[in-house]
This record gives sequence, structure tokens and C-alpha cells, in this order.
Amino acid sequence: MKIHNDLLLRAAKGEKTIRPPVWLMRQAGRILPQYRSLRAELSGFKELVETPHLAAEVTLQPVDELGVDAAIIFSDILVIPEAMGLPYEMIEKVGPRFPRTIQSTKDVDNLIQGNDAADQLGYVYEAVKLTVGALNGKIPLIGFAGAPWTIFSYMVEGGGSKTFSTAKKMLYKNPVLAHQLLDKITQTTISYLKRKVEAGVSVVQIFDSWAGILSPEQYREFALPYMKQIADSITSVPTIVFARGAWHALEELHQLGSEVVGLDWTIPPVIAREKLGALQVVQGNLDPCTLYAPPTFIEEKTIEMIRQFGGKHIVNLGHGVYPDTPLENVKTFVNTVKSFRYA
Ligand code: CP3
Repeated sequence: MKIHNDLLLRAAKGEKTIRPPVWLMRQAGRILPQYRSLRAELSGFKELVETPHLAAEVTLQPVDELGVDAAIIFSDILVIPEAMGLPYEMIEKVGPRFPRTIQSTKDVDNLIQGNDAADQLGYVYEAVKLTVGALNGKIPLIGFAGAPWTIFSYMVEGGGSKTFSTAKKMLYKNPVLAHQLLDKITQTTISYLKRKVEAGVSVVQIFDSWAGILSPEQYREFALPYMKQIADSITSVPTIVFARGAWHALEELHQLGSEVVGLDWTIPPVIAREKLGALQVVQGNLDPCTLYAPPTFIEEKTIEMIRQFGGKHIVNLGHGVYPDTPLENVKTFVNTVKSFRYA
């Protein structure tokens, strides 16, 4: 299907654009009153994720409300463990929880993987198809998955954590088992992302949200090789790798050969350019908390960031937008980018 506003696709391929494209991680969700009211009518988060027409509706809300240059399919990274045989719960005001976790060889052996696991996620592919149909070529749709390390950390830890010390413990005590689990997650993620591409997403983002809790050495052993397998397997659409806190691995993330490297807000644009070069397309990286500031400050910081990256840039925040961000400020951010023109 021809995409009318294809700024994101052209920017991802490194082409020159009149302005950078803009979208926000976590744009489909609680910042929008439409989301909150629909969500309140349902039994829970999972009903939204697992009902394709509702997931499609929520995906389109920020497109209409904010005028962003890309949609991201409404879902969660935790559908992957569930498809492998490890169900999750989403507890109100707490977050995700796994009633069972992975601890032993037997637990890993019992998991299903690859196409068999990806087959369980028909509701996601259906939501993608419905969304692509409704977008009718207006803007591209982004598909996503968690990076193997981030998915591993939830499957072993059993939920969110400040330290993820239970998940990290396995890396030190039983690295062989850790690699087996990471490999199963990777094979499943590859099958899943291929299906999402077949269903119609035009770009894929890999979220390594917990990259920053690993030491640089561990990140090289337990995260990057699996990211590499994913980047090498998804060849028909551009990929974005976003590893939060992995400032020490910027060069390696660049070498993955992914079209776009996502940056968190702790990486100054000048340093990113020094490490990645002028040609690497980057995405990011305004501190999400900037959007609590007055509008003139948001405008100033957004333009300063665009100038500092100096092109080959997709504008985003340095992590997901926080749910209590005033919607007007999100609009100021988006509109500032849309009015900007490269010299
Ligand atoms: O970006 C988008 O707009 C698409 C939707 C999306 C969600 N989760 C919906 C969601 C995406 C891309 C995700 C990815 C995700 N999920 C990540 C990686 C991105 C990141 O933020 O680092 C992670 C770590 C998760 C796991 C997860 N899901 C957690 C820790 C939580 C609870 C914390 C929270 O944000 O509330 C969720 C729940 C979740 N996923 C919500 C939404 C809109 C909120 C739940 C609700 O509506 O009640």
C-alpha cells in the first residue's frame, strides 16, 4: 500500500527530509482521555490487548489527536512470554506479574518457541491488519517487540523490579541455562516480528528497556548477540533498536546494522554523533519530563535537540511518555517538530 506521509520511512532509510518525523513511545495509552475512558469500561488491560478492533481503535487515537507521523500498534511486549507458555497478569497501579517464573532447565524445556509460539498471537496480527486498513496509507504503522534480555528479565524475575537481581542471578549462576532461554525467546521474537510484517507493519522497534541494569560485559554476552540475530532476520522493513541505559554499547548497537538507533535522554546528541557518526539515523531523545515544563521551554529544547542531531533523525522522547503528562504539552512538542524546517 502506498503511504502518503512517508517521512518516517524515508528518514529511517537515511533519506533527506524537509523536517524530521515525530512520534512518541507510549503515545497509545493513558495520556489520552479517550484511552482512559475506553479502558474504564473494560475488564482490564488484557481485554484491550486481546480484542483486535479495540487495540486498533486505541492505536489510532493518538494519530487523530496528536497528528504524529507514525502509529505504533497497541499491544505489550509481554505477549511473547505468554505465547511461549508463561502467562502474565497486569495488576492495576502495580504493573505486570507472572504467577509462574522460569527457574530450572525443566521450566525452559517446557516453553514452546518459534512459529509454534508465534501462532498463539493471532489477535495481534488481526489488530495490525485492522489498523493498516483503517489508516488507509495515511502514515506508517510501527510493530514492536521486547528485546530478548528484557523479556528474559520479566520471565525470570516474575515482574517489575528496581534491581532485577533474580534475573541477573541466573546469568552468574547458570549462564548455560540463561543462554538457552534467551535463544528460545529470540527464535520466538523473530517468528513473531515476521508475522507482524506480513500483517502490514512498515517498521519494527525492539525495546531493550532493561539494558541499563546489565554491566557492559554482560550486555555484550547476554544481550547484543540476540539483538544481532533479530536485526539480521528482519530484512524487509527498517528496524529501530532502543536499548535504554546502554550508552556504553552505542558503537555495538550501530554495528548491528539496524537502520535506526534509538537513544535515551541521558545521551547528549553531540556524544551520540561522535560515537555513531554523521550517517547513522538516530531516534530520540528528549527527556520525557521536559513535557512538564512551560510550552516555550518545550519548544526551545525540542528545536535545540533537532539542531544538535543535525539531520538523520526521528524525533521522539528518550523513553515512553509519562501518563500524567499534560496533553497540551505533548501537542506543543509534536507541533514544534511539524513546524520545523531543515535549512
Ligand atoms: O507505545 C505505545 O503506545 C504502544 C503500546 C505499548 C504498551 N506497552 C502499552 C501499555 C508498548 C510499546 C509497550 C511496551 C512495553 N511494555 C515495554 C517497553 C517500553 C518501555 O516503556 O520501556 C515494557 C517494559 C512493557 C511492560 C509493561 N506493560 C509494564 C512495565 C507495564 C506497567 C507499567 C505501566 O506503564 O503502566 C505495562 C502496562 C501497559 N502497557 C500500559 C500500556 C498502555 C498501561 C496499562 C493500563 O492501561 O492499565
